[in-house]
Amino acid sequence: MWGFSVWRRCIHCSLSVMKKLKGKTAAEQRWVLRQLKDPYVKASHAQNFRCRSAFKLLEIDDKFRLLQPGYSVVDCGAAPGAWSQVAVERVNSAGTSRHGLPRGTVIGIDLLNIPPLDGAHFLSSHDVTHTATHAKLLELLPQDLAEMILLPRGSLLCKYWDGVLSHQLQEKLSSVFHSVRSIKPDASRKDSAERYFLARMYKKPVK
Ligand SMILES: C[S@@+](CC[C@H](N)C(=O)[O-])C[C@H]1O[C@@H](n2cnc3c(N)ncnc32)[C@H](O)[C@@H]1O
Repeated sequence: MWGFSVWRRCIHCSLSVMKKLKGKTAAEQRWVLRQLKDPYVKASHAQNFRCRSAFKLLEIDDKFRLLQPGYSVVDCGAAPGAWSQVAVERVNSAGTSRHGLPRGTVIGIDLLNIPPLDGAHFLSSHDVTHTATHAKLLELLPQDLAEMILLPRGSLLCKYWDGVLSHQLQEKLSSVFHSVRSIKPDASRKDSAERYFLARMYKKPVK
């Protein structure tokens, strides 16, 4: 009986996989199969995250405690919004904490559309490098942050592709932050050159 039900389930799975692969190019089929096997993809569906990248931020934040209730977060390149989901919960920007914790702010910016999320302000179709975007960002940030976006002693977490120019970025960050470290979370695919710089303790700019 057990063998039968497993067999029946396997047939069902194979049919649904075949349906997902139908009409796709070889590269697309490889991508679909990788997604289907990936435990972080499964977990992101189960926990209602918009994509698996949420687990990278959860892992980094569990270790380094960057996000605290009441903090402000600017998520640059935020679509589809998985990091913003994590940030909203951890800085309590939707005000859902039952312990009277301070309420933070989350602002996400992307060239693409970012579907709405309670507790976050999204600037969809905005380029983070444009001055017009900076002006809108300043309007949305709480008063104390409005002057310079990142407060002295603030943190920056940024993705980079490990390569010949990474040390230049590290040096640049080191000139304005007291501490800079390179991180490869477990949730980041081993075969990807993706890594993160965690820069902490932003130095007060000399005027
Ligand atoms: C890897 S995705 C981010 C995923 C996101 N952290 C999450 O967890 O859902 C990178 C995003 O950066 C955005 N992006 C790249 N250059 C940008 C720019 N100059 N301004 C705004 N967004 C940009 C892309 O459109 C893309 O959606």
